Amino acid sequence: MLKGKKILIAVTGSIAAYKIPSLVRLLIKAGAEVKIVMTDAAKGFVSPLTLATLSKNPVLSDLFKNDSWSNHVMLGRWADIMLIAPLSCNTLAKLAVGGCDNLLLAVYLSATCKVAVAPAMDEDMLLHPSTKANLATITSFGNIVLPVNKGELASGLIGEGRMAEPEEITEWLKQYFSNDLALTGKQALVTAGPTYEQIDPVRFIGNNSSGRMGIAIAEALQQAGATVTLVLGPTHLVPSPLLNTVHVKSARQMFEACETRFKQMDIAVMNAAVADYTPVNVAVQKIKKADAALSVELTKTTDILKHLGEIKSGHQYLVGFALETNNEEANAQTKLVQKHADMIVLNSLNDEGAGFAGNTNKVTIFEKSGQTLRFETKSKTAVAKDIVNAIINFTK
Ligand code: CTP
Repeated sequence: MLKGKKILIAVTGSIAAYKIPSLVRLLIKAGAEVKIVMTDAAKGFVSPLTLATLSKNPVLSDLFKNDSWSNHVMLGRWADIMLIAPLSCNTLAKLAVGGCDNLLLAVYLSATCKVAVAPAMDEDMLLHPSTKANLATITSFGNIVLPVNKGELASGLIGEGRMAEPEEITEWLKQYFSNDLALTGKQALVTAGPTYEQIDPVRFIGNNSSGRMGIAIAEALQQAGATVTLVLGPTHLVPSPLLNTVHVKSARQMFEACETRFKQMDIAVMNAAVADYTPVNVAVQKIKKADAALSVELTKTTDILKHLGEIKSGHQYLVGFALETNNEEANAQTKLVQKHADMIVLNSLNDEGAGFAGNTNKVTIFEKSGQTLRFETKSKTAVAKDIVNAIINFTK
């Protein structure tokens, strides 16, 4: 899949640059042609000689050298993809404002190919509002942001911000270049899992959702080429590191995570079992047992699917779920209309092998065109593929 592909790796100053020689080796082994540009700061972390030797091409970093000028326009035109890895906070900020004080930035600004970035930074830097805003800005320019991993960081702290591993980046590039990827270049948002609505510091209202179906959908979308953000409620399941996973707990947090990202999305699949009600007040101290009965006053949460349905624009495709025990088809059709969804996936708890528990599901798809697709009981992975294929067919 990578044979003959021209990959331009742009290395910036981050400790994660030590992984780039391994990445270059993997890409060359897979048959790709690799050229490298790097910033001066990157040279402190990995030697240009190492990268030149492994890539079998000279490494470029200066706009001018003696009396010769590096042709940044041709480099950007040569590449099938430009991969900025690792992407430091400083270069990210420059990408967001169109800065051009080195060769790497000049190549980026003149690149006609797709640009993907693999950020690497400390968790606090990653979570800073300016970093989040800059990542959103470069995504809105059409660049692809590869997810970061969680683990040990250069600071010694444990958290989010590790650059994706060379094997993961290679796998992503293989998927990106594979021909049958119908959703390449698309951004998708998926919600999955339950939400927990806190009553007091030790108790919450939750539900039995495992998140398995939503995670399978997120992974199927990613395998079909989309860049996927998964907003995941509390679950013990660990989604693929190739997904950009945002962990949330409550319905409110899930709503906020979706609302801030929705504008950049082409597809959104709301699979989470979101609590419909949440306590009006969360007790600061543990509620002590008393003889009398206990009432907890609840208030309605925001319906995320319905809200996104109301604000969505024409090119966005919105999928919701309906989990029903009676009047299944009529209820699903009502949700399709009332929530302004493009598709509702029905699972009925009356069907054996369907619903929250277990590894299987049985679904019926209702589309806004009036078409209905019925499926047999299958593994959740197979159901996810059916749903993603339906999305691909309806958005063609
Ligand atoms: N949903 C949502 N936000 C909520 C409640 C539900 O986004 N606060 C979404 C779910 O993710 C799902 C769809 O709405 O895609 C339908 O959820 P479901 O629980 O079947 O229906 P409700 O709208 O909650 O209605 P009811 O519980 O009365 O059937």
